[in-house]
Amino acid sequence: MQAWLLGKLGSLDNMHLGEAADPVAGRHDVVMEVALAALNPADRYLAQGQYPARPELPHILGRDGVGRIVSVGAEVKTWRVGDQALILRGPVGVERAGTFARLVAVPADSLAKIPHEWSLEQAAGASLVYLTAYQALTQWNDLKPGQVLITGASGGVGVAAVQLAKALGHTVVVLSRSAEKQDQLRAIGADIALSPHDSQWRRKLSEALGQRRVDLAIDNIGGQLFPEIIDTLGMFGRVSVVGRLAGPVPQFNTASLFFRRNKIGGVAVATYSAEESRRVWAHVTNLLSAKNARPLVDSVHPFEQLPAAFARLEAGPMGKVLLRVGAAS
Ligand SMILES: NC(=O)c1ccc[n+]([C@@H]2O[C@H](COP(=O)([O-])OP(=O)(O)OC[C@H]3O[C@@H](n4cnc5c(N)ncnc54)[C@H](OP(=O)(O)O)[C@@H]3O)[C@@H](O)[C@H]2O)c1
Repeated sequence: MQAWLLGKLGSLDNMHLGEAADPVAGRHDVVMEVALAALNPADRYLAQGQYPARPELPHILGRDGVGRIVSVGAEVKTWRVGDQALILRGPVGVERAGTFARLVAVPADSLAKIPHEWSLEQAAGASLVYLTAYQALTQWNDLKPGQVLITGASGGVGVAAVQLAKALGHTVVVLSRSAEKQDQLRAIGADIALSPHDSQWRRKLSEALGQRRVDLAIDNIGGQLFPEIIDTLGMFGRVSVVGRLAGPVPQFNTASLFFRRNKIGGVAVATYSAEESRRVWAHVTNLLSAKNARPLVDSVHPFEQLPAAFARLEAGPMGKVLLRVGAAS
């Protein structure tokens, strides 16, 4: 089969389009013909060797995707040849070959049906980012509906967090560097949209919130912004740390956590078991349907143009960046 092969760790430039052996379904696997795959920043981190996983090389990246099942393992009872499915978070694209290929083998317990009335494009890149956003929102057991601030809000995790935070009854504040994307984020439910590059953003936020402060920040960015995020928190306010797209936090005085008893907690979607992923996914899709919300697709790129798709992801998308791998059947 044709596949994008990562020959060595170091950079995404070490990928080339080549030939790999067709995968064979293990006893608990299915093999899927990939229709659409989705890109994630973690693919880049893995290629750069900045990720804990050290898969066998050449490796095929790509964690998310949708497709049609073409064979099933001996122990698989829940899926049949011809079924369409999406891949939930799991080993695909990390410890084992991923979806930037014509065919992929997937553990049957890491699959879900395409949600009712969703297009294949909407389903293709949703699972990883919605499961992550859900963990970021719900890992604080005593969080009541309040004010949620989301950084990097136009990205995959950001859009998912905006929609789920609204569905859970929060007032949603978003940060995006682009005025156009701030408007798009308001259109999907953000109550307040500001630019992190506006030196006055914290004053503007405080004016918009009045007596209220931020109860939970979901941070995809890190870097210089992190201490500014802490500064917006109210009493017992928390930060769910999801990503670090702007790199390390340069200076951080822990005294800023004392007086409002703020808490910082990491998010790791990989800690969801297959069973938890299926349960959380069912809840997420119910929350979205109750609000008639759907995943946003930024762009769909031809299979042969994966490097251009990664360039689009790095430039800052509005929703998910997808790769069209095969015919949507
Ligand atoms: N912890 C976990 O389990 C987990 C799971 C999934 C993802 N992640 C991480 O979460 C982060 C976000 O993922 P994603 O899929 O949402 O990414 P994404 O789709 O690439 O979107 C990130 C958004 O952040 C902004 N951004 C990008 N680079 C930036 C920079 N250098 N400085 C400031 N803003 C920047 C852009 O928004 P604007 O252009 O609108 O400003 C972009 O749309 C990544 O670091 C990813 O690796 C972690």
